[in-house]
Amino acid sequence: KRTLYKSMALALALLVAVTVFQRSLTPDQFLQESLPVTLGPPKAQKPSGHQVNFENFWKSPKDVTPSPVASQGPQVWDVTTTNCSANLNLSRQSWFQSLEPHFRQFLTYRHCRYFPMLLNHPEKCRGDVYLLVVVKSVITQHDRREAIRRTWGHEWESAGRGRGAVRTLFLLGTASKQEERAHYQQLLAYEDRLYGDILQWDFLDSFFNLTLKEIHFLKWLDIYCPNVPFIFKGDDDVFVNPTNLLEFLADRRPQENLFVGDVLQHARPIRRKDNKYYIPPVLYTKPSYPPYAGGGGFLMAGGLARRLHHACDTLELYPIDDVFLGMCLEVLGVQPTGHEGFKTFGISRNRASRMNKEPCFFRSMLVVHKLLPAELLAMWGLVHGNLTCSRKLQVL
Ligand SMILES: *[C@@H]1O[C@H](CO)[C@@H](O)[C@H](O)[C@H]1NC(C)=O
Ligand SMILES: *[C@@H]1O[C@H](CO)[C@@H](O)[C@H](O)[C@H]1NC(C)=O
Ligand SMILES: *[C@@H]1O[C@H](CO)[C@@H](O)[C@H](O)[C@H]1NC(C)=O
Ligand SMILES: *[C@@H]1O[C@H](CO)[C@@H](O)[C@H](O)[C@H]1NC(C)=O
Repeated sequence: KRTLYKSMALALALLVAVTVFQRSLTPDQFLQESLPVTLGPPKAQKPSGHQVNFENFWKSPKDVTPSPVASQGPQVWDVTTTNCSANLNLSRQSWFQSLEPHFRQFLTYRHCRYFPMLLNHPEKCRGDVYLLVVVKSVITQHDRREAIRRTWGHEWESAGRGRGAVRTLFLLGTASKQEERAHYQQLLAYEDRLYGDILQWDFLDSFFNLTLKEIHFLKWLDIYCPNVPFIFKGDDDVFVNPTNLLEFLADRRPQENLFVGDVLQHARPIRRKDNKYYIPPVLYTKPSYPPYAGGGGFLMAGGLARRLHHACDTLELYPIDDVFLGMCLEVLGVQPTGHEGFKTFGISRNRASRMNKEPCFFRSMLVVHKLLPAELLAMWGLVHGNLTCSRKLQVL
């Protein structure tokens, strides 16, 4: 039944996609552009069809005060082939043999840092962009992306108070199940035609590869969005209140080392094997992690993000992405700042608590974990509807 419903919904989406796309292009363009094919050996992705006018691109108004990090790096995504061979050195070691399979897989490919792009949007930061919203998603979670586009991921031409635009992108790898790949890849290509908001890289979208997603995004940002003042990065199962985010940012300067979220201090690596975040002692020997912000949603300044990209490049990959980012911050000597409005571990740890359903709380927050698409749409409606709250919650 679910499959039937899904195929019907997708067929409809396809029809809409094709119609909208045909309207937005001259017939000539429509014929020229072929769908990205991702099976078989990855092809070099030229940013054709998304041609950036670099002259204007680099001369955005923000360039008046040049950023301290001069752009020395590539001006396009320069990884065009996947050259990732298993590290067979490890298999001879006895400690390696005794690890769980997913840790062995992680370590076997840990040295493979960058992969080619399958879907790119070099044009995303063209013009005056104030806030870039990026959302970690996986290929099968189309409904979450749809709900986010209709709620907090909505793009704005202006962030208000004379500020630039708010733009949204989703960050994806490839389908983790081989048999899903061809089918979902086609659908994703149509989805991207319709909305133009997908960045996709040619690596497997697994939990341990989220760190790859982190460094791929930072590298991408360095190339294609060098001047964006602020970035919000979050999960696809959170509630975000963009009005509050923008109010919070109103008196921040992009030059600050702003990195704010739900910060954990002295968190210990989890050593219980049945936990999702379990880390064997061979992978991390210190008793605690550097301070880090929960990956569910955090804000950072663009300049800091570019420096993070270079800092992360000096470290070996760590399987937990938000901890890894904390390690990169430590390299820079930057402390992440905790803020009450970021509840990436839920409002109340008690799942049954009524606070987790209370719209007045959501209205006063910046980010709350965790809401599924139907809950997100419903909560969004409540928060932006006729809501009377008995007392104003002062969080900002
Ligand atoms: C891939 O890597 C191997 C060893 O690291 C190297 O010998 C080979 O030339 C590389 N191939 C490409 C296409 O970069
Ligand atoms: C495997 O070991 C050799 C020799 O010690 C080393 O040169 C090579 O870089 C190692 N391979 C990887 C992927 O670390
Ligand atoms: C990460 O992605 C690469 C490339 O697709 C893959 O070879 C590797 O096994 C993945 N690692 C994990 C831990 O899933
Ligand atoms: C909003 O609240 C007012 C007063 O309580 C009510 O008259 C009105 O119908 C409500 N509007 C909506 C859209 O619910």
